[in-house]
Amino acid sequence: MSQKISSIRGMNDILPTQTPLWQWLEARVRNLLQGYGYGEIRMPIVEHTELFKRSIGEVTDIVEKEMYSFDDRNGDSLTLRPEGTASCVRAAEEHGLLYNQVQRLWYAGPMFRHERPQAGRYRQFHQIGVEAFGMTGPDIDAELILMTARLWRDLGLQDKVVLELNSLGDSEDRARYRDALVGYLSQHADRLDEDSRRRLERNPLRVLDSKDAGTREVLRQAPRFDDYLGDEARQHFAELCAVLDAAGVAYRLNPALVRGLDYYGKTVFEWVTDSLGAQGTVCAGGRYDGLVSQLGGKPVPAVGFAMGIERLILLLEQGRPELPEAADLYLVSTVPPTASLVLAEQLRDMLPGVRIQSHCGGGSIKSQMKKADKSGARWALIVGEDELASGEISLKPLRGGGDQERIVRTDLAERLAALMKL
Ligand code: HAM
Repeated sequence: MSQKISSIRGMNDILPTQTPLWQWLEARVRNLLQGYGYGEIRMPIVEHTELFKRSIGEVTDIVEKEMYSFDDRNGDSLTLRPEGTASCVRAAEEHGLLYNQVQRLWYAGPMFRHERPQAGRYRQFHQIGVEAFGMTGPDIDAELILMTARLWRDLGLQDKVVLELNSLGDSEDRARYRDALVGYLSQHADRLDEDSRRRLERNPLRVLDSKDAGTREVLRQAPRFDDYLGDEARQHFAELCAVLDAAGVAYRLNPALVRGLDYYGKTVFEWVTDSLGAQGTVCAGGRYDGLVSQLGGKPVPAVGFAMGIERLILLLEQGRPELPEAADLYLVSTVPPTASLVLAEQLRDMLPGVRIQSHCGGGSIKSQMKKADKSGARWALIVGEDELASGEISLKPLRGGGDQERIVRTDLAERLAALMKL
């Protein structure tokens, strides 16, 4: 026998037992986004490598260590997208969606990062991302956060997640702060870990979220971003916080929140949980007013976030929400399919939207009834020789009790509609 080929480490199959929860979650998010006036955009999963280098930043973990890049047959360097923002900006700009107009967009799909896999961290993972273009004020930042807070309530996760918030100021604020931080950290370079020493030269703000104990000790006395925020960024942040306060959305200010992608300025936020071990960020984003021009467009203000679907699924599984069963009716039959499958088709015509699973493959009534029960359907419809001869169908409730009844075939659709309150 030849050897079996398995899936790639960190890239998971999502099985039929798992997809109902995925679909339930995706449907809720889709409804929410439609309710706030966001339109869906779908981008390719492969882009020119340069797009990610220029947007996410050369000195970031993603670009330095995690991208799946390869040369295609023309010799162009392409990359499996590690995130959606860069592609979304590219697509929106390419199709003229950003010219003198406001856009509220969302996308969903797989992203790829070559990280060390563990629970909640995968090499292929899924995001639902939201990007809002053309609005400078803190109102849109607030709308995005209020929308996510509503989603957690809707999913029953409101007690499991906490909002962390920070402002990275505008580009001048960041430059002034960077100088101050570099000045301070350079004096203590010998106490920094190796990664932080390297970042100190090329991307000093990233030192702020180092996990190394020695570096964290040095950071305790470091200059605080807060002291370098200019008036405009300070005002922007204060107005955002005021909306959150008024709407009753609690948050924790976290001056060390700098995010792992370089395009952010002003507002940054993360929804974190302590129910998932080390991989606690379930949704994250912020403002990126400089990115569109950095990618060659006219300047367009923008803000967005993305949530990690696998992490949300892990959280939801801890509470097990009630999911709809796969079928309403399971059709059990010992008569030829010319009778049973035709009956199922007629019922589908008469009762649109009702989910009917027809048993295929024969077997005794007893074994078919076991399958009917396992399917999760609420009723079994039974067509045996007896029923066929008398023009009737047997209907047996599978959930919540009740007696089996025999119904004249011409009355069946009406009886089912009444039972299902259609
Ligand atoms: P990010 O923080 O890199 O931001 O990713 C957003 C979310 O994706 C994370 O909070 C996490 O839930 C999930 N995620 C990231 N990496 C993995 C992984 N290896 N395995 C499982 N889940 C993961 C962005 O991607 C930005 N594009 C967000 C954004 C949109 N900012 C503005 N607009």
